[in-house]
Amino acid sequence: MNIGVFASGRGSNFQAILNAIQRGILPARVTLLLSNRFDAGALEVARSNGIPTIHISQKQFSDEASLAARMLEVLKEHDVHLIALAGYLKKIPTAVVRAYRNRILNIHPALLPSFGGPGMYGHHVHEAVLASGVKLSGATVHIVDEEYDRGPIVIQRTVPVDEHDTPETLAAKVLKIEHEIYPQALKAFAENRVLMKEGSVWIHSHN
Ligand code: GRF
Repeated sequence: MNIGVFASGRGSNFQAILNAIQRGILPARVTLLLSNRFDAGALEVARSNGIPTIHISQKQFSDEASLAARMLEVLKEHDVHLIALAGYLKKIPTAVVRAYRNRILNIHPALLPSFGGPGMYGHHVHEAVLASGVKLSGATVHIVDEEYDRGPIVIQRTVPVDEHDTPETLAAKVLKIEHEIYPQALKAFAENRVLMKEGSVWIHSHN
């Protein structure tokens, strides 16, 4: 399975995916790292691993259709089968969602469908979790559809919220499990163990 990773930030989830591949846990290759930011740390991670990079931003195009066309062209050039959003902060153009239906994954640093949607990224998520008083947070891997953070859930794992948590300590706890469940979810796709039934996703433990 060829994975195209989209990232806007430092790329620690991208690094976790690469680690799983290098350890032989995840039977896949990353054939492309796409970023909307020319200064994303994820680009450096790609370069030091010999992975092709591309910087594509809406600013380079007059409209969404031309951005989508360029993305699809690049995805084809790199023979990408599945797209993994790893801290990618832009909306995926509708034409790309359609072309890669059920083949785009995202990782979100909370238990969706709570604490998701537009504006819910980075520290905003953890601040909202702490302000709500919930006692559990966690991470969610889900399929990307036309709406922000709303597609079918693939894997979730929880972390406890405790009274001493700050947005920073909670983010660190959540990030640790993100690095575990994202490679797991991708492994299930790579091994064809993912079943979609009535809009829900189920992972089989064996083939
Ligand atoms: C992660 O918390 C992820 O859940 C969110 O953005 C952050 C990206 O971190 N979507 P990194 O760039 O993978 O380190």
